[in-house]
Formats: sequence, structure tokens, C-alpha cells
Amino acid sequence: MPDLIIRNGTVIDGAGGARVRADVAVTADRITDVGDLGGATATAEIDAADQVVAPGFIDVHTHDDRYLFTNPDMAPKASQGVTSVVVGNCGFSLAPWKNAGEEQFPMSLWRDREDLMFPTAGDYLEGLERTPPALNAAMLVGHSSLRYGAMDDVHRPATDSEIAAMQDSLRDCIDQGAIGMSSGLFYPPAQAAKTEEVAAVAEVMAARDGIYTAHIRDEAEHVMEALEEVAQIGRAAGVQVVVSHHKAAGLQNFGKTKETLPLIEKFQSQQRLTLDVYPYHASSTMILPHLVSRCRKVLITWSEPRPDVRGRDLAELAAEMEMTAEEAAKALSPGGAIYFQLDEEDVQRVLSYPGAMIGSDGIPDDLHPHPRLWGTFPRVLGHYARDLGLMTLEAAVHRMTGLPAAQFGFTDRGAIRTGAYADMVIFNPKTVLDGATFDEPTTPAIGIDSVFVNGLAVWQQGKATGERPGRPIRLGDTSRGR
Ligand code: ZN
Ligand code: CU
Repeated sequence: MPDLIIRNGTVIDGAGGARVRADVAVTADRITDVGDLGGATATAEIDAADQVVAPGFIDVHTHDDRYLFTNPDMAPKASQGVTSVVVGNCGFSLAPWKNAGEEQFPMSLWRDREDLMFPTAGDYLEGLERTPPALNAAMLVGHSSLRYGAMDDVHRPATDSEIAAMQDSLRDCIDQGAIGMSSGLFYPPAQAAKTEEVAAVAEVMAARDGIYTAHIRDEAEHVMEALEEVAQIGRAAGVQVVVSHHKAAGLQNFGKTKETLPLIEKFQSQQRLTLDVYPYHASSTMILPHLVSRCRKVLITWSEPRPDVRGRDLAELAAEMEMTAEEAAKALSPGGAIYFQLDEEDVQRVLSYPGAMIGSDGIPDDLHPHPRLWGTFPRVLGHYARDLGLMTLEAAVHRMTGLPAAQFGFTDRGAIRTGAYADMVIFNPKTVLDGATFDEPTTPAIGIDSVFVNGLAVWQQGKATGERPGRPIRLGDTSRGR
């Protein structure tokens, strides 16, 4: 007898095919039957009439490395129907941890918990096993984190021996189960890195088919050159590239995705390269004064020198402080900000691109986070797919489930079919929508009924159940990792 039967639901299987009316049976951590199970009985039953039953969403772009331990319920993600996250993006991973000095952002923020300073990727993944969170997680190794480990000064190109040290460290991480490497050439700790350095480090993953995700060097004026650079890294290293949170940033670059997407399409005919996107026309990162002039508006998400200003408009603050906006940004650093610097038409163009995966890029420790942290997946389903008709619901679900599972090689996840892991979400297709806004960024989504990870409910009736069935997803367990 199965542990659970979900009856009368509309199943969207994650592969992109049309929805079907079906029951779903679960035994232990797997889906054991899909179809008309009218005659069967189970220990527990759920009536999902008028609801969609879909694979749990895979958030391919996150910064949840530490949050998985400090907030194991993972409410910002579980509340959206997310069941697996990929951590360690944009060049920064919590592991391997090495001797974080004052300037080693974001590690410098994370020295309060010695038990969370994982010296190796293996320690990090074992940590997830020892104190499991609600959701599954796969980890990338940050190129900037490798630089911190191998270099005394990251504001210059790495020497040959430092590159060799990064290669050794990455090779170990991959052997221990990390699924790939990320880089953030946009950020100060990696800006001085040459293309050849990144390619040389990434190359050690080729033998095991690790994946390479990239926050490219420039998403604004030089976005085309920056895309060329990561494509070149992918070819030189022989690895698959994921262009992270693809966008054209800055008022002057509105409309530029009309050029970037054809370039991406060209690369795709020559090499393995894909992309992810979040569904908002504002970005968010640390306070970087040089970004201010290219934005319509800037909101402060946190400020170390001025904890009282979170959630406030930088222009207003600058007036109060009798400074230019750039000077005020400098005075409020270190901190975080939301930048209104994207064109809504560009956002929709990228979301509509058939190969685009969905990644939140949420920053969970921000005091006043970008709403993408709590809203990304329901916003795509409700606002962009249902209300604006940008894509079918089946296509939207595919971009969050079957597609990322295939790209990242998550075996038996991202699918509603017999034999797959029972990572599932039940949602109401008529009401599903993001609740988080720029003013109220931690409001949970609407219309998410229940969320299951490895067969256990982690989110039900608007709150976390307290179950912690999440598992690390290691390279050796994926369909990559040859
Ligand atoms: Zn990034
Ligand atoms: Cu990111």
C-alpha cells in the first residue's frame, strides 16, 4: 500500500507536455504510480481537485549556502514550491572555507559561526546530511572563494602556482561531490582575473563534466564582450556554461537583449551553453556606487554604518545627507541595494526565450531583500504565464523542473513519473501569484497548497511543517559526473 495518494489533480509532468488528469501515488521517497488509482488505497490521501500537481521547482541560482543551516525550514523557497536549490553562485561559495580576512566579502560577514566554516566541499555536503534542511541542495564552488584560498591579494591576476593551487582545490571539491564552479568576474575579488585564469581553473572539471555558471564581467555596456568571454571559457575548458541571471543592465542598454539572445543562440549551435533569469526589472547586489548613475531608482537593503536606512530610497537619503547619490552610496557601504536598471521588455524577452531556466538569485540574509527571494517562481507562473500569456503553464513549469534537471543532471528529479523522487508541489493555477513586493518583500506567495521533498510534506497550509527531508545532490549521483 502506498504511503500517499494525491487524487483528482491535474498533473503537469515537467517535461513540457500537456496537462493530464491523474492520481499520483508515493511510497517512501519515490513516486510509485501515476494514473487512475480509483481502486487503490493509501495510508494518507489528499484531494487535489482543481489543483495542479507538478514537480517541485529547482532554483538553479541561489545564495542559500549558509541559510540551509541557519534557517533549515527554507521558508522563502519552500513557500514558492521550490524543492531543490543550487548554491554557490556568482563566484562565492561558503565552502571551501579558508582564512577569511576583513576584505573577503561575503565571507567577512560569516565569521560568527565556527561550525559553518566548512574547510572542504565534502565537509559542506556532509554537514547537509548531518543537519538536513527541508530542501535538497547541490553546490557549486566559487571561483572567488578559490582565489581567497590560493592568493594573498585577489586584486591582481593569479600566478601560475596560484592557478595550480586553485585547480587542486577545485579538483578535490569535484571529487567530493560539488557539481561545478561559478565565477563572478563582475565583483572586486575576481575583476583582476584574466579569461585564461578562469578557463585554466575550470578545465579540471572537464573530465567529470562539472558545470560552469557565470555572473559575467559586464551586464551593461559591454554585455556582448562579456558573453563572448564566458563562451570562450566554456570552449577552452571543455565545460558546459550557464549564463547567470541574464539581463541588459542600465538605462542606456534598454533593448539590448535583442542582440544578446541571438548571440546566445549562436553559441548554442556551437557549444553547450544555457542561461537562467529572474522575473523582475530590478537587480540586487552589494552597494556599488558606480551603479547608481545607470538606475531609475535605488533602494538600500542593508547598510553596516546605517542599520536604520534599510528599505529606503537612496535619492531621499542623499538629500538628507546633503550628498550626491554616489557619495551617499559610498557612505552607506558596506551594504546591499536594489537597482531599478532593467527594461521590462528585456525581462519578458529573456523569460520567453525557450531555453531560459528560472533562478531566483535571492539573497536570504538581506534585511529588506529583493522580492525575488520569496516571489520568483509564483510570479513566473501567475503573472507572466497566466496573466500576461508569455508562455503556457506547461512551458513555465518545464523551465523550473525538467529543463534544469536535465541541464544540471539531477537524476530522477524535476519530473512527475513513476520512479522519480517525490519532489512535488500542489498549486492552484487560477490563484498562484507572488506575494512579495519591493515594499513588503517577505510576503509568502499565494496559491501554493503543499510542497513535498523526497516524499515528505515540508510546506502545508501556509507554513513549514518542520520536516527536514532534504539531501545533498552530489556530482557522482547525477547524470553528469562521468
Ligand atoms: Zn550574480
Ligand atoms: Cu547571484
